[in-house]
Amino acid sequence: MVHGDDWRTGVQKEIRRKVIDALNEWGGKLVEPNYTEGISSTQLINELTERGVTPNERLKVLRRLIDVKPIVRILEAHNGITGLIVEKTKIDKNGATREFDGIWLSSLTVSTSKGKPDTEVVDFSTRFQTIDEILEVTTKPIIVDGDTGGEIDHFRFRVRTLERMGVSAIIIEDKIGSKRNSLFGTEVMQEQDTIEHFCRKIQEGKKSLITDDFMIIARIESLILKNGMEDALTRAKAYINAGADGIMIHSKEKDGAEITEFCEKYGALENKVSLVVVPSTFSHITEDQFKQMGVNIVIYGNHQLRSAYPSMVKTAESILEHNRCKEASEQYCMPIKDILTLIPEEY
Ligand code: SPV
Ligand code: MG
Repeated sequence: MVHGDDWRTGVQKEIRRKVIDALNEWGGKLVEPNYTEGISSTQLINELTERGVTPNERLKVLRRLIDVKPIVRILEAHNGITGLIVEKTKIDKNGATREFDGIWLSSLTVSTSKGKPDTEVVDFSTRFQTIDEILEVTTKPIIVDGDTGGEIDHFRFRVRTLERMGVSAIIIEDKIGSKRNSLFGTEVMQEQDTIEHFCRKIQEGKKSLITDDFMIIARIESLILKNGMEDALTRAKAYINAGADGIMIHSKEKDGAEITEFCEKYGALENKVSLVVVPSTFSHITEDQFKQMGVNIVIYGNHQLRSAYPSMVKTAESILEHNRCKEASEQYCMPIKDILTLIPEEY
């Protein structure tokens, strides 16, 4: 193992101790060259991303992150400004920087932000425009919510376009016909696709791609539609055999019991791919717990829009209440100077 000697002190000290213990177990050796002062990998990464990124470079990053990170953390965005929040928000936690790894293009928040229901009524030409708007101002990898994927013939074109744009993955759900948001569960009429038809969609999508980097992730709706755990596992196996690069398991049960059970049973499968969850309802489960459950990607699916909306309504009500905007400006709004300079005038 080779590591600069700067980790003898500071936050990495503990990791170094564990590495030495592990090396001792099998007779490994630690080589610690002198650390070059003034060079930081974070700074190098920042400089690279500040310059921007080509579609091809961006596309590949998601697979790399899945390989190297115990869990990949993704947050929803639905336009340029929310994309920038995912791109730039960082906090310092226990001496390390914590940030999001990528962006989720949610069908729910994109539709809602356009004042439309989440029923695939916002067509993919419009969705491509939103994706492009976000690509334009960010560098992090993007996962697109592909809804049902549509007709197989159309899906083949869709994945090609996304691949060309530099999107890293699409998630398609195994529903057919008029799609409604999963969090309605069985309150509304929703039909699950047959295993055969959905597998064909995955296969045709995979065949249309140019690179091996773009991921098609299959989303299983068996728990949402109350079709049972066995059905969910059967489908996971079938979709993996059909070539899916990931499995997303969805649930609307708050206690997280069925998600935990699925992850446990999924973990026992011989042939596995990356596992994805969207904890909109089972929101108490932490990333550390998801790691233990074998989850590879956690997507916070709708939280930017859900937090912005109540704040905007409060502002609108305050203006009506006071017949002026002083109270709203002072209580709920950022200063004018901050909004003017929020977006720099140069790259
Ligand atoms: C979305 O964000 O549009 C999703 C996830 O599909 S969920 O709303 O939880 O079904
Ligand atoms: Mg959706």
